[in-house]
Amino acid sequence: MHDFQAILDEVMAAVRPVVGQGRVANYIPALASVDPSRFGMALATVDGDVFGVGDWRMPFSVQSISKVFALALTLSRDGDAIWRRVGKEPSGNPFNSLVQLEYEQGVPRNPFINAGALVMTDRLLSLTGDSRGAVRDFLRAESGNPAVDFDAVVAASEAEHGHRNAALAHFMKSYGNIENPVPLVLEHYFWQCSLSMSCADLARACGFLARHGRTAGGTRLLSRSQAKQVNAVMLTCGTYDAAGEFAYRVGLPCKSGVGGGIIAVIPNRCGLCVWGPGLDSHGNSVAGVEALDRFTTLTGLSVF
Ligand code: DON
Repeated sequence: MHDFQAILDEVMAAVRPVVGQGRVANYIPALASVDPSRFGMALATVDGDVFGVGDWRMPFSVQSISKVFALALTLSRDGDAIWRRVGKEPSGNPFNSLVQLEYEQGVPRNPFINAGALVMTDRLLSLTGDSRGAVRDFLRAESGNPAVDFDAVVAASEAEHGHRNAALAHFMKSYGNIENPVPLVLEHYFWQCSLSMSCADLARACGFLARHGRTAGGTRLLSRSQAKQVNAVMLTCGTYDAAGEFAYRVGLPCKSGVGGGIIAVIPNRCGLCVWGPGLDSHGNSVAGVEALDRFTTLTGLSVF
């Protein structure tokens, strides 16, 4: 058995020299004001025990981590039909790139680049009438924290500076791959990105992927096979165009966000979340990558 608290303490001591390195995301003004010296990490076992270090209870902007939950909720309702509208291959391009979409007739490479997440948001909107509410309510239930909520300042900032996302959505609409009005899809997408959660909340919330699709309450959201699919797409596409390096160094399904958070899943064992706002050139948390690398090296826990 691992002493997870001692391991997290050791990880935090090891990553301390890189905490504060990297650049805080500044393309949305509301994200630029975050203190780069923050660092937190949490681990939630499939049985409900939670361990943490540093700023593990401090909420931060989940940003693209929300894409995992939008995918899971859409997949749970639509099944394999979703793969007609979005691919499952790594893009090898930045998360907000437009070029590939034109070559590939408006079908995004995967659900974790912005174009793919916009398609999932669109579909979840058609299926539920309230995509952002569905994602928020699911996260409240899975994290066990009813206070999980949107950050209206971040959402407004996203909307004000969201021209590239608007371009992606309009472009896909021209190919018939967006069902709802573009402004409505963008609104729900921006609100989903603005959700504010702590490492503890997110480590718990990704537990359903460690439990092969079973929610915290014991009901089934995804089939075992669908949970494997989400984990596989996280491994290959969850960390932008650094997914190869991530698989090599960390060896776990992960999803990062430009708020500096990264979630990771160890099937059968636990959900993990690490947060450090300083990002590398791919948009992944510098301290977060280092911490997950250390964690898997120290514990020998990975999917390989
Ligand atoms: O779409 C955006 O620009 C942000 N709200 C989310 C960015 C992010 O975390 C990177 N995504 N893959």
